[in-house]
Amino acid sequence: MEKLGVAIIGSGSAVPTTSLDNQGLTQLVDTSDEWIATRTGIKERRLAGADESLKTIATMASFKAIAAAGITAADIDLILLATSTPDDLFGTACQIQAELGATKAVAFDLTAACSGFVFGLVTAAQYIRTGVYQNVLLIGGDILSRWVDWQDRGTCILFGDGAGAVILQANESDRLLGFELKTDGTQNHYLNLAYKASTDELIPGVKVNKGNFQPITMNGKEVYRFAVQRVPEVIDKALFHANLSVDQIDWLILHQANQRILDAVAQRLNIPAHKVISNLAEYGNTSAASIPLALDEAVQQGKIKPGDIIATSGFGAGLTWGAAIFQWGR
Ligand code: ACO
Repeated sequence: MEKLGVAIIGSGSAVPTTSLDNQGLTQLVDTSDEWIATRTGIKERRLAGADESLKTIATMASFKAIAAAGITAADIDLILLATSTPDDLFGTACQIQAELGATKAVAFDLTAACSGFVFGLVTAAQYIRTGVYQNVLLIGGDILSRWVDWQDRGTCILFGDGAGAVILQANESDRLLGFELKTDGTQNHYLNLAYKASTDELIPGVKVNKGNFQPITMNGKEVYRFAVQRVPEVIDKALFHANLSVDQIDWLILHQANQRILDAVAQRLNIPAHKVISNLAEYGNTSAASIPLALDEAVQQGKIKPGDIIATSGFGAGLTWGAAIFQWGR
């Protein structure tokens, strides 16, 4: 029988070694551990140092996912790297392909901010469902610390660095049970890491833009409102496509943006707290990495077991948001 279903058969993750706790942040901006912990649930975050890069942490996460899946790098057909913070604007996935020795794999970056992992999961699944590829390495990784304004207390308290990876494999039965992806570019201005042009006149009459990217700007209240409204809706839609009810969900893994968002979404969906996976106290918001990082930790801890039904949702800049319902393992 042709294997046109998708299974997610292994995970791995990696974070930088340096950690910065809330107390440390008080040396940078006017804030307190109490303010940050009660408003966000975040206690500390990992920050990439001089000898670390997106390539190094994403490669480490990938090696672990490959080992957990019981395949080799040479088996991989496609590498998708979901990131907004590449080491090279031309893409970082190719460098990871070389580090892994995944000689057969085609590799490219995919950008959908904090929704990147869910968008990547659905993208990877299309290649498998059409019979084109059998083994896909999907990585979510970000080093937002590069682009945070460390003088802006409204944003610098939120973000951290990390990477997570999964292996998707062609399978007889399809474990990706349902999904829904959304974009609303009219609200793009609520969350940006934008390029700012400045004009350079090359020769008289010929001007080019030679600018740079500016630190992250965010309208926290609007992003909060957006997440709490849209995430339950999109999970409901994905559940509908999966022909499942909320009580059949074993685990809810949301993009780890803010504990208050996690609590509000779970409450709106009527999902009890013990099913909600949360690790943002330790890592903050790691953007595209947050879902696979939380997934991998829960698998390592023995919480998530083969056959468990997981509802996951990413949301963030774009604005983009999406949900995927899948069953863990083959
Ligand atoms: N420490 C102390 N005080 C602070 C801090 C801080 N770090 N930041 C803001 N304040 C102050 C403000 O100046 C303000 O003071 P004022 O009342 O004297 O003007 C007061 O605290 C309240 O500020 P608000 O911005 O209204 O605080 P709010 O309750 O909205 O909390 C927060 C801010 C935590 C950012 C919240 O809006 C939030 O979580 N929004 C969602 C943001 C998010 O999750 N973004 C990422 C998701 S998308 C993605 O992942 C890319």
